[in-house]
Amino acid sequence: MGSSKADIAVSYDVSNEFFRLWLDERMNYTCGIFDDPNTPGGARGEVVDLNMSLEQAQLNKLRILSDYGHVKPGHKVLDIGCGWGANVEYQALVNKAEAHGITLSEAQCAEIRRRNIPGVTAQVVSYLDYKPPVKFDSIISICMMEHIISPAEAREGKAIQAYRNYFRLAHEWTKPGAWFGLQTILRNFVPRNKKDVQDIGWVTYEIFPGGITPRLEEIIAAVNPYWEVVECKTRRLHYERTTAIWLERLQKNETKIRSTWGDKVFDDYVRYLSTCVTGFQKHYQSLAQYSLKRID
Ligand SMILES: C[S@@+](CC[C@H](N)C(=O)[O-])C[C@H]1O[C@@H](n2cnc3c(N)ncnc32)[C@H](O)[C@@H]1O
Repeated sequence: MGSSKADIAVSYDVSNEFFRLWLDERMNYTCGIFDDPNTPGGARGEVVDLNMSLEQAQLNKLRILSDYGHVKPGHKVLDIGCGWGANVEYQALVNKAEAHGITLSEAQCAEIRRRNIPGVTAQVVSYLDYKPPVKFDSIISICMMEHIISPAEAREGKAIQAYRNYFRLAHEWTKPGAWFGLQTILRNFVPRNKKDVQDIGWVTYEIFPGGITPRLEEIIAAVNPYWEVVECKTRRLHYERTTAIWLERLQKNETKIRSTWGDKVFDDYVRYLSTCVTGFQKHYQSLAQYSLKRID
C-alpha cells in the first residue's frame, strides 16, 4: 500500500549531505509559510513576503501546525512522517513537549538520533505497523499522506478507504480531547499540455515512487467519523515560493552536487523542483493545512 521502504529510500536516502545543501538548516522538506498573521491578508494565506528567509518561513509553518495541534508544555506529541526531525526538535525545544517521530527512512532516523535532542525519540516504522506504547495528546503530520496510496490504487478508487484508515489509527493512538495539526499537498487540476503532464508523471514515478498527492475532497470525505475539521487553509503560493528557493539553492551548489553525486542527480533534481514551481503556479497542485479535533 503506497510507498514501500525501498520507494522511500529512493525519495529520501540520496544522502543527508545532499539535502542539507539546499533545504533550510533544520532540513524541513515541506512548504514554509512566508507571511505574518499580523499583515493584512497574512492570516488568510494570500500574502507571500518575498523578503522573508526560508528559515523563518519554516519556523512559521511549525508554529502554525503547533497551534493547530494545540500543543502545550509537557504534551506527548507524535509526528507521523517526521523527516529529518525539524518538527520533533521544535516540539521539544520550543514547545517543551515530548516528541516521538516515525519515518520509513533509515537516513532520516539516523540524522535525528545524531542530533541527540533532549525530549525527542524517533524510530523507523510504517504508520501501518506502529504500536505506540502510550496515548498522545497531539499529532502533527506534515506532508506524509502523499505516500499512503500509489497512482494505481488511486485509479482503483482506494484513496478514501486508505486515508480513513490513517485517520482511524491516529484516533486510536490519541487521548480524548486530542488535536491534530495536518499539512498535505493537494492534487488539483490536470495539465492540458504534454510537457507538464510528462513532467508531473515523471516526478510522481521517479522521485516519489509509490505515492500520489491526495485531493482535498478525499481528505474531507475520509476524516469522518474520527476527526472534526475545525480549520482548513490553502497555501498554494507559499509552496511555489518554497520550491523556488530550494531550486535556487540547488543550482548554487551545482559544481559540488555534480562532482559528489553525479550529473544525473543534479539534472533530475532541477527537473523535479522546476516541475513543482510550475505545478503550484498553474494550480496543478496546492497545499493545505488543517486543524483537526478528535471526535470523542
Ligand atoms: C515529504 S517527507 C516530510 C518530512 C517532514 N514531515 C518534513 O516536514 O520535513 C515525508 C515523510 O513521510 C515519511 N513516510 C512515508 N511513508 C511513511 C509510512 N508508511 N510510515 C511512516 N512514515 C512514512 C517519509 O519517511 C518522510 O519522512
